[in-house]
Amino acid sequence: MRIIHIEETDSTNEYIRRYLPGRENTIVTADRQTGGKGTKGRSFLSDPGGVYFSALTFFDRLPAEQAFRIMAHAAVAVCRTAEFAGAAPEIKWPNDVLAQGKKLSGILIENGLNGRYVDHAIVGIGLNVGNDVSALGGIAINLIEAAGRRFDPEEVRAALIENYMRPSGFEEYLSYVRFLGKTVRVTEGETVWEGVARRILGDGRLEIEADGATRALSAAEISLRF
Ligand code: BTN
Repeated sequence: MRIIHIEETDSTNEYIRRYLPGRENTIVTADRQTGGKGTKGRSFLSDPGGVYFSALTFFDRLPAEQAFRIMAHAAVAVCRTAEFAGAAPEIKWPNDVLAQGKKLSGILIENGLNGRYVDHAIVGIGLNVGNDVSALGGIAINLIEAAGRRFDPEEVRAALIENYMRPSGFEEYLSYVRFLGKTVRVTEGETVWEGVARRILGDGRLEIEADGATRALSAAEISLRF
């Protein structure tokens, strides 16, 4: 694994693309991003003090239906890091990591497919460590607040890299999921409905029970409120 640290770039997910032709697994981290990208075309606040991480990973024969494993692994790496730092992380399906009910980290995954297989994935992780998240209106938290002590972002960055490089399993992902059995509000296109979150399937779909029926839905189809 090649590991590169830079001070600034627009987005580490974009920066790492230059390593695609070499087909070598690579991690790029940055102190700050000027054009951090979030999911659903949103931007991601990337001030100094946070950890901005992208991993480029190549796969031999990972069927596209199993791509959720990539997401689960990234969320587990963040949770391990936050827990080790003294916070109590939990996963908001599919892969936001929360602490005290607020967003501690966001994950953006960009897969490159080759037919039915995932050829490579760019896994982007933004982890709030000491960066000021107050501009986000109380929906986000940083690790200093979540753990109640100060950190050097370098120390957290090293822990995240180490945790990312250790294998993980689906059971570990589930161990950080706390909302199963609770009522959730589901937004599906224009429709909003409520149901009870029952379980997460191995392919990443969430089973939700409403009006006596259970449906398995993917993160691409719905968004959730708790
Ligand atoms: C989200 O919560 O919407 C996902 C945010 C992902 C942010 C990370 S920071 C490192 C990498 N580079 C980016 O531009 N985005 C991801």
